Order: sequence, then C-alpha cells, then structure tokens
Amino acid sequence: SPSMSLDAYIAGLPKAELHLHIEGSLEPELMFELAQRNGVAIPFDSVEAVRAAYDFSNLQDFLDIYYAGANVLLTRRDFEDLAFAYFRRAAADNVRHAEIFFDPQTHTDRGVPFEVVVEGLVAGMDRAKAELGVTSGLILSFLRHLSEEAAFATLEAATPYLDHFVGVGLDSSEVGHPPSKFARVFAAAGELGLKLCAHAGEEGPPAYVREALDLLHIDRMDHGNRSMEDEALIQRLAASQMTLTVCPLSNLKLCVVKDLKDHPVPEMLRRGLHVTLNSDDPAYFGGYVNENYRQLAQAVGLTREQVTLLARNSFEGSFLAEADKAARIAEVEAWAARSA
Ligand code: HPA
Ligand code: ZN
Repeated sequence: SPSMSLDAYIAGLPKAELHLHIEGSLEPELMFELAQRNGVAIPFDSVEAVRAAYDFSNLQDFLDIYYAGANVLLTRRDFEDLAFAYFRRAAADNVRHAEIFFDPQTHTDRGVPFEVVVEGLVAGMDRAKAELGVTSGLILSFLRHLSEEAAFATLEAATPYLDHFVGVGLDSSEVGHPPSKFARVFAAAGELGLKLCAHAGEEGPPAYVREALDLLHIDRMDHGNRSMEDEALIQRLAASQMTLTVCPLSNLKLCVVKDLKDHPVPEMLRRGLHVTLNSDDPAYFGGYVNENYRQLAQAVGLTREQVTLLARNSFEGSFLAEADKAARIAEVEAWAARSA
C-alpha cells in the first residue's frame, strides 16, 4: 500500500546481489567457531574485540584484517558453512540470486587446496538453492597485488572446475596495480567463456576505469565511483549501460565517501548510469544488502521508483539467462504494483 514505509518496501523487494566477497561475509561469531574447531589462533579474545577492530581509514587497512580473518577457513565444511551462512542472511533480505566472489589465492597461498575451497563453496551454493530457493554463481577473483604469473597459475588451477564459475574478477589493493597488469589473464579467461568483472575506480583514478573497459573488456564494473570525476567517461558508461556494482556502506567504512549524504549514486542515476547496490564485505562493513539500500535511501532521499530501478538493474546486470532475468524482473514489478 502507499502507506508502506520505504524500509518495508525495500525489505519486500526481490533483489540480486552482484558484489559480495564470500570471505567478507565471515561474521566474528563464525570466525571464533572456526578458530576453535580448527585450532587456529586469532589475535582477539572476544567477538566484541573483533568488531572493535573494524575501524578502517582506507582499503588497505581493511584488506589486512580481512586476509587475517580468512586464516580460520581450512576445510570443505568451513567453506560450505561460510557460504550457507551468507545465503541464509541474504535470503532474509529477499535476495533471490547472488553472484559471489572468492579469492582462491588467499587460501591456496596458505596451503588450502583449490578444490577444497571450490567444493565447499559449491556445496553451500547447492544447499542455498535447495533449502532457500536462492540461486547463485561463483566468480573467481584474482588478487591484483600479486603477479600476473600468479594469476595465470590460478586460472590454470581453475580449469578442471570451469563449470562451477560464471566469471572472473579483480580485487585487492587497487592503486599501483592497474587493470593493464592483467590484460593477458583476462583475455585467456574470456577465451574460456568466463564473464569478466573488475574492481575499478574505488580508490584508483578514472584512468583505471578506462583500462578496465579498453584492456580487460569487462562485462561488469565493480564500484566505479571515481568514474564520476570524468565527464567523457560518465557519458560512455551511460551510453553502454555498463552495470556498476556500487557498495554504499563499504564506501563509507573505507572512507571512499566522507558521509553517505555525499554518495555518488543520486548523480549516477541522474546521469543514466546502470547502477546496482551491494554489500561487498557485509561482516566488516556493518550491513547486508537491505541495510545498504535503507541507509543510502535515508541519507540521500531515494524515491520508491529509484529503489525499484536499482532492484530491476540488479537482475538485468546479472549473468542469469535472459528468461531467468525476465522472470525475476516480473517479480520486482509485481511487488511494485502490489505496493503502489
Ligand atoms: N576492494 C578491493 N578488494 C576487495 C574488496 C574491495 O572492496 N573487498 C574484498 N576485497
Ligand atoms: Zn569488492
């Protein structure tokens, strides 16, 4: 009904999540449980102490803690539990489909076999579909602070498991590690039939966004905030309807924006960019997808129509088959009509 609050409207809206690092969904409670189960020492003595440490002034600050947290993940069951915990939380937010990143190098570099990571995550994804009705895809993300050679070795390790992946991504420390460093790896991934995503313009300049478009030939851009500094780039992104997976609470916690009131999403929408809202690393940034919609809507004053557009964009920008996209978008329209 028209009297429904915007928060209630957001909660009931079917959504896809397109920018979620599964290692970034490791809640402190599960971190403690896995540390105990695996006999791994962690440098915190309580869940509260972990949460108190989540105070970041930039991307690298966060990454240091995020990679340390991943040390508790060792077995197939750990990865399955991690993934299923995310999907249970996402389902509560009415996320109907999620395309999730994982960072294989974070695990293989600690001696955890590639197949343990993939089989565990896939088990969690299969359970999410069976028990929660949430569909998903897995995106293998290369760590850009490591070498091109290491990325190629990771792609090689992934080759027996290609059926489990919808795409590749590029994450970790952006400045100093431009997309050009991975042009050949992305070309090889594209030839394997994988979709191509890259983080760009989170901390890096508009030139990195251009490289992601021109040298990596990406299908989807993660973040993209700093594109807004470059008029020609804005026009290009609008004309191509490139999907941007924007993460408001991540941007706030990593000081990409000073205040949510300064967030670029309203300007992105005004300029006709194909924007989606996502949670990035929700265990570290203080909110899952609905919280990102709610806090941004509150801070910048999004309308119900804009919120509906963001949800529609999330399915359009997904790697679902066209018929599945259409079915999900019809559910978004049905919710909008019912709530009108
Ligand atoms: N940026 C770069 N690397 C990451 C992020 C991010 O937002 N989250 C997890 N790894
Ligand atoms: Zn990210």
